Amino acid sequence: MSAILVLGAMWGDEGKAKVVDYLASNADFVVRFQGGSNAGHTIVTNNNKYVLHTIPSGILYPKTKCLIGAGVLIDPAAVIAEIRQLEKAGISFKNRLVIDFRAGIVLPLHKQIELKSETKRRGIKIGTTQKGIGPAYSDLTARYGIRMADIENTDSLKSNIKNLYSYHHLGISKIALAAQIEELLEYWKYLKKYVGDVEALLHKIASQPGKNILFEGAQGTLLDLTFGTYPYVTSSRVMTDAVGIGTGFSARNLDKVIGVYKAYTTRVGIGPFPTEIADETADYIRETGNEYGSTTGRPRRIGWFDAVAGRYSARINALDNAVLTCLDVLTGIEQLKICKGYKYQGKIHRSMDLDNTQMLLCNPVYEIFSGWDAHIGNCKELEQLPLEARLYIEAIEDFLHTPISLISVGRDREQTIKVKAKKR
Ligand code: IMP
Ligand code: MG
Repeated sequence: MSAILVLGAMWGDEGKAKVVDYLASNADFVVRFQGGSNAGHTIVTNNNKYVLHTIPSGILYPKTKCLIGAGVLIDPAAVIAEIRQLEKAGISFKNRLVIDFRAGIVLPLHKQIELKSETKRRGIKIGTTQKGIGPAYSDLTARYGIRMADIENTDSLKSNIKNLYSYHHLGISKIALAAQIEELLEYWKYLKKYVGDVEALLHKIASQPGKNILFEGAQGTLLDLTFGTYPYVTSSRVMTDAVGIGTGFSARNLDKVIGVYKAYTTRVGIGPFPTEIADETADYIRETGNEYGSTTGRPRRIGWFDAVAGRYSARINALDNAVLTCLDVLTGIEQLKICKGYKYQGKIHRSMDLDNTQMLLCNPVYEIFSGWDAHIGNCKELEQLPLEARLYIEAIEDFLHTPISLISVGRDREQTIKVKAKKR
């Protein structure tokens, strides 16, 4: 058995889905362990573009099975719509999807609460995806959440929903309650065949020789509820250890942890971003890299590669390897920058030890690199890249203290350079 984890090392949208997709050809199982429909994983293959939200990216490989762990949130209507859309594109779900019976669900109430809490907040706004993810996780923590397996039992479902509304100091009419229950039962009828015990399944798979499991992270480490740039974070745990929390398959059993970095940095939503730029280069990167949120369509904020945050992420995830994506997007930019320190009140911080207010006020300290002009989308080996690109990659590798194993030079599955392991 081999178990590999691919996770976002920065603020999300690092191109994880492409990496998972690239590795999924060998995977028997692809497993999601956190987040929900707030994620947007874009895959381009044979000129077809797929955007996945809750369904693991492995679904595009006919023989790969997809598992959704207990730590993922299920928005039943959104998941059903996603399945139907993929089926329409010719993708079969027969015996290929299992959703853990423990997974919590997102109710319409959660989206209403999220909308209110963002509009009411004074000062700090988070800029969430408005998918009800935060309120649904909070309710699970408060022990008022409703989980997949709870839908089947109508009587307890009724009292659970009533309790949830009164917990939020809200009322629900008999008619509205009945309508909500009926709707959930409809969803259940459709989803029931996919509900199972992912923990037990992973345990069983782990004892079978030759099986490959790929864990697919959503969002990114800097959005981790605790170790991210709190409170401008998502509400799940996003680091390596979240695999165990979200599936019951301990992170101790992982063979390899791969962190995905973009060759520059992006962020959607609000919060500190020391290397952010808002000039012509940012516009160029946004347009060339199509840096618009795949879930919300929001323009992504753009910045230089942040090696301070990157190294912190490599450390807390105990990365074995890094993957660098979107290198092609930087083609044509004369001068590139990598942030190697945060300057705050005259002192240079080389690790992410500033709090949020300080991070908002700090100035990045950069090392400058020459760019390149040559088209790199057809490069198949590291040696074919322009010298400037290789020097840039080498510098990132040194800053991260982590060997880079793959480099993406275009959106297509084929536009990926496998880096030969160095003899150290
Ligand atoms: P939430 O996850 O919807 O609660 O949003 C919290 C923060 O995480 C916001 O800044 C979002 O923009 C960000 N976020 C959530 N999901 C993603 C993602 O898949 N990619 C990038 N940012 C995300
Ligand atoms: Mg995304």
